[in-house]
Amino acid sequence: MGPILVFAALIAAVLLLLYRLLRNSYGKTVHISSAVTGTEKNPYNDIQSLPAEFDWAATPPLKIWPFKPKYHLSMALENIDIPSFIEIDNTYRDRMRLRRSVMDEHREATLQCNSVATPAVLEFYEWMLSTYLPKRFPSIYTSIVTPSGPNLHNTVSDTDLPIRPTSPMAALETLGEHVDTDFLFLLPSSTAPDGTSIYHLQAFVTCFPAGFSTREKCGKPLAAIHAPVPGYVAKLEKSMDRFFARIEVGKMVRRSNWSISTDDRLFSDGGNHMYADAEQGKPIETNNKTLDVEQPDLDRKIEEQKRDVVVEDCRLRCERQTLHRLPETKALVFAFKTYLYQLDEVKEEGLGPVLAEAIEGLGKGSVPDMAFYKRGVVWGDKVIAYLNS
Ligand code: HEM
Repeated sequence: MGPILVFAALIAAVLLLLYRLLRNSYGKTVHISSAVTGTEKNPYNDIQSLPAEFDWAATPPLKIWPFKPKYHLSMALENIDIPSFIEIDNTYRDRMRLRRSVMDEHREATLQCNSVATPAVLEFYEWMLSTYLPKRFPSIYTSIVTPSGPNLHNTVSDTDLPIRPTSPMAALETLGEHVDTDFLFLLPSSTAPDGTSIYHLQAFVTCFPAGFSTREKCGKPLAAIHAPVPGYVAKLEKSMDRFFARIEVGKMVRRSNWSISTDDRLFSDGGNHMYADAEQGKPIETNNKTLDVEQPDLDRKIEEQKRDVVVEDCRLRCERQTLHRLPETKALVFAFKTYLYQLDEVKEEGLGPVLAEAIEGLGKGSVPDMAFYKRGVVWGDKVIAYLNS
């Protein structure tokens, strides 16, 4: 072997060694949060992978059906471990395409980052791409090093994602396109009279809002975000604010909600179709909750909308929501994955009458106005009849 060949072999060996070292360090993550706990057991780093036999394409969506006979407004949170943060199932590929197209068509509605949230978005992004995703779903996301730097390779879309994003908006967009979950970032941006920090929404990527405009909510505190929710001030506001101020680094909580939508559109920000009143020169942007209690011809409006309900188009819409605090910036991340089920799926599970009872129970719990808010007064009769048939 000539000296040039020996030199080349040496260089190759050094490069390989460097590559392995880098790869390992990205796999294990040199993540900030180890500084937080000061121990090896760092819940943000200690992410068990799903079993080797996990095959996203063969995994049906979770059936999260949290309906109860009567609707009582409560936080209903349960603790979960951090590895269970994200769920992936056989809808992944289609959902990713849909998310991409929703972001292209509705950029303003789906993505925003106020400058105060930049560090939080970048912290979360780096953790997701360098630690959580490759550790939890190694068959989908693989850490690699390319000439342009450390990347995450998405094996399903065959794309390389930079671990160091060019901007917080680019970070949100990448998350939006490669994880079937919507993420909202909250920061303590004001203080209540009793000194409690009040959390405001400061950044988001939401491809599948359920009939609200996230952009309009951005910058606002939790109470203003929930202004349309009946009973929120009386039953939830104080405990929510206290809970948000206190949730500790390393804890993750989950809750789920449910509603019925009268179509199967996952993106519904309230502006994507119009109804009636255009003749009065004042078009009402419709969403699932646009009936106005104050409008004089409310009963007529309800009747009109009831007539338009096609039960075969109706879906049970549920969200699996989580909340946790980032270790470094201490921002809160509220995340939700949206599930849409045909009513027939519920019937096939023998739960038609159970859901029908829950729909009737919307108006019988702690906040009877929920039946109106969830628009049950419009779709309720037809859906109940179908579920009981
Ligand atoms: C984890 C604690 C939370 C609880 C207990 C909670 C509770 C609720 C409830 C009960 C509703 C009414 C309908 C339903 O059942 O979904 C609702 C709606 C909503 N929530 Fe929350 N929420 C929480 C966190 C958040 C956060 C952090 C955000 C955003 C930053 C958020 C944004 C919304 C929005 C946009 C709506 C729809 C409001 C509308 O109709 O305009 N929620 N929430």
